[in-house]
Amino acid sequence: MKVTGSGQILGAAIDGLDLSRPLADDELDALIGALGRYGVLRFPRQRLDARQLADFSARFGKLEINVANAYQEPGIPEVMTLSNIVENGRPIGLADAGQGWHTDMSYSRTIAFANVLYGIEIPMRGGKALGGTEFASMHAAYEDLPEEMKRDLEDMTILHDFEKFWESMREKGSKRPPLTEAQRKTKPPVSHPVFLAHPITGLKVLYANPGYPVRINELPPKESEKMLAYLFEHQLRPKYRYAFHWTPGDVLMWEDIGTIHNAIADYGQHEHRLIKRCQVMADRFFGDA
Ligand SMILES: [Fe+2]
Repeated sequence: MKVTGSGQILGAAIDGLDLSRPLADDELDALIGALGRYGVLRFPRQRLDARQLADFSARFGKLEINVANAYQEPGIPEVMTLSNIVENGRPIGLADAGQGWHTDMSYSRTIAFANVLYGIEIPMRGGKALGGTEFASMHAAYEDLPEEMKRDLEDMTILHDFEKFWESMREKGSKRPPLTEAQRKTKPPVSHPVFLAHPITGLKVLYANPGYPVRINELPPKESEKMLAYLFEHQLRPKYRYAFHWTPGDVLMWEDIGTIHNAIADYGQHEHRLIKRCQVMADRFFGDA
């Protein structure tokens, strides 16, 4: 197994590893180390079925089962389909997942550790792959914050609300219906520290993202609003950013605690995209609520 850094702030390619086979313990350790160092990993030229994708992903933690939608793999609910393909009048996957900056599951008591995506069909235009994902490093964003702000925010917490991102997607024209009362009850807002010690690197990261945070609990509303606006702008400075572009057969894996991401919406309805996804919870690092 060979790890080659992208030379940018995030990103590395992992060659010489067949993810359809069981992962050895030392390989798992090496991959966790690489996730800490590079945040975003590409495994080129993979051939996986849904079961193999779930088995690989489950080595990193408990897999989330997304109850909110119908695009689960038959018999393997941990695997979800992300796609804009419509067959016999019915969408086969969630079409607009993750369009807008966020980190997955920050609205959840047990936050996400990692995402594993398998790129089966990738839209192409003029030889260029579309539907990539942009990332930003929250290790670097924390590091650069003014010392005074690091001190002030050290013991503060942010309230994260699932509905914020959901509604922002609807405002951008997504066809998803408003959350029902029952859905809202299963996803009440939760608080997490503004800064987390990253479970792999031990370094502090800014655990904020424009997608879900609605307020800083310890500040008056006006100040909270100003501070969040500052953090959202700060964390997206170009120097923290890295863009991943697909080649079909890639497995893309990233860790969600030290990065935030944005699914690039640069392809049309008839430029087909088909991705299988698993979401790994951070239960092995932060306990399972
Ligand atoms: Fe996401």
